[in-house]
Amino acid sequence: MPGKYMSNFDSRDLPQEEDEYIILGSGIAGLYTALAAYGAGGSVTVLTKCSMMNTSTDKAQGGIAAALGDSDSPSLHREDTIVAGAGLCDDEAVAALVNEGPKRVKELIDLGAIFDYDSHGLAMTREGAHSQRRILHASGDATGAEIQRVLTERVREKKIRVRENHYVVDLLVWNNTCYGVLAFDRDINSFKVYRGKVVVLATGGLGRLFEFNTNPEIATGDGIAIAFRARAEVMDMEFIQFHPTVLNLPGAPPFLISEAVRGEGAYLRNSEGLRFMPRYHDLLELAPRDIVVRAILEEMARTGASKVYLDLTHLDPEVIRKRFPNITRTCSLYGLDIMVDPIPVAPAAHYMMGGVKTNLVGETSIKGLYACGEVACQGVHGANRLASNSLLDGLVFGGRIVEETRQFLKDYHPRHLEFACDWLLEPAKIDFADLRKKLEVLMCAKVGPFRSGDGLKESLDFFDYWSFLGRHTTDNVEQMEVKNMLQVGELVAEAAITRRESRGGHYRVDYPDTHRRWQKHIIFRR
Ligand code: SIN
Repeated sequence: MPGKYMSNFDSRDLPQEEDEYIILGSGIAGLYTALAAYGAGGSVTVLTKCSMMNTSTDKAQGGIAAALGDSDSPSLHREDTIVAGAGLCDDEAVAALVNEGPKRVKELIDLGAIFDYDSHGLAMTREGAHSQRRILHASGDATGAEIQRVLTERVREKKIRVRENHYVVDLLVWNNTCYGVLAFDRDINSFKVYRGKVVVLATGGLGRLFEFNTNPEIATGDGIAIAFRARAEVMDMEFIQFHPTVLNLPGAPPFLISEAVRGEGAYLRNSEGLRFMPRYHDLLELAPRDIVVRAILEEMARTGASKVYLDLTHLDPEVIRKRFPNITRTCSLYGLDIMVDPIPVAPAAHYMMGGVKTNLVGETSIKGLYACGEVACQGVHGANRLASNSLLDGLVFGGRIVEETRQFLKDYHPRHLEFACDWLLEPAKIDFADLRKKLEVLMCAKVGPFRSGDGLKESLDFFDYWSFLGRHTTDNVEQMEVKNMLQVGELVAEAAITRRESRGGHYRVDYPDTHRRWQKHIIFRR
């Protein structure tokens, strides 16, 4: 059982700052919320763990889905989202996403985001499980970087206060109300208190818990861990999405090869050179992600290979170069000419469908604490996220948080409370780097795309063994991250062992079928 705080501190001894909105995270969800709050007259501070641009948003390739095409409609987008979500999407959350999404994307364009165009207007591609071409992209395959650029520039222009290298250690919660956060300023190695009327978690996901993943180094699940310690509800933690096609080449990083590559017609071949998706699903290479992932892993096991291949060699080289300049360039750095060489790929952890439970306006179970983007779970993605819905989710629910809270802030004057924790033991003298490595390997092996009761039990024994760390204080970020990763890994494993069926991103070899009686959410609270 974790303690309430991770470090010994007393807020009376610490420097303090105050703002109406304290926003944690600087990806699309955090920065868009910051701009919306500022635009509505709020005063805002953004705290971010590393540099402002070090986010999952910046790495997103494929694009942002929105029903903007002539033959498309929010109701078609809704249908595709719900089918992908495998019975667990919240209808109203999906309706909000698909109906408000186009307006939010147009706002991004007004803010200066430059998407790609073709002779018909905004260029749109397809990705897995989409019935329409509705994915907008920028600079071919660098959509996230363009969105990150434009939001960062606007935030800087407006002189919104951004504190980089600020690691949020814990939420300051009393009587189920959030009053602010305890942060650790990595530049000066010291703690600081940020008080806010509204605290917004936009801290992203947890991909870094898995040895093989597509996420930036910041994605260690901190937002979920701090919210859970503060007794917020978390939901759907068993649902982790693995991306089917991640570069798997000795010496190269696990670089994402966008699903849009398959959307433009690339084939998956096994190590014998055979195209295998026709044996697995009618939608072939564009089947839902979980199905493509399992098909790849089955082919790898059957052929004894550690990878399969993404083959673009039958496609027009000019189109490839133009659509995927970033992928072309990165592969060529590692000696691959993707016009001639099939790309070796394997699945990797990519996205978390679950997270801190919120309602439709981003409010968590703690008053004053809101969440949006990957860290949040309002049920919009169900058990399996539809490709390219995540950037949109950050915009729509970030916008909703601001619309909701401007009202609430008018008459809200929080009490000035002080917070302290002074009873944790000394720092534990263990090798945290080694522990982290063990955790990452375990998560891939036992809590990955194929799970079993025995494997999950083994992982829970591991978390149980290390739970004594919750009684020790921690005063450096690397150790805090590992403790958060243990906390969040345990939540994923606990939810996965509880759900005795397979659905969306959660697959149990010992319970391979989907059952109606499990069409419900698993919610945890400390
Ligand atoms: C991709 O480009 O394949 C990733 C898009 C996503 O995960 O939504």
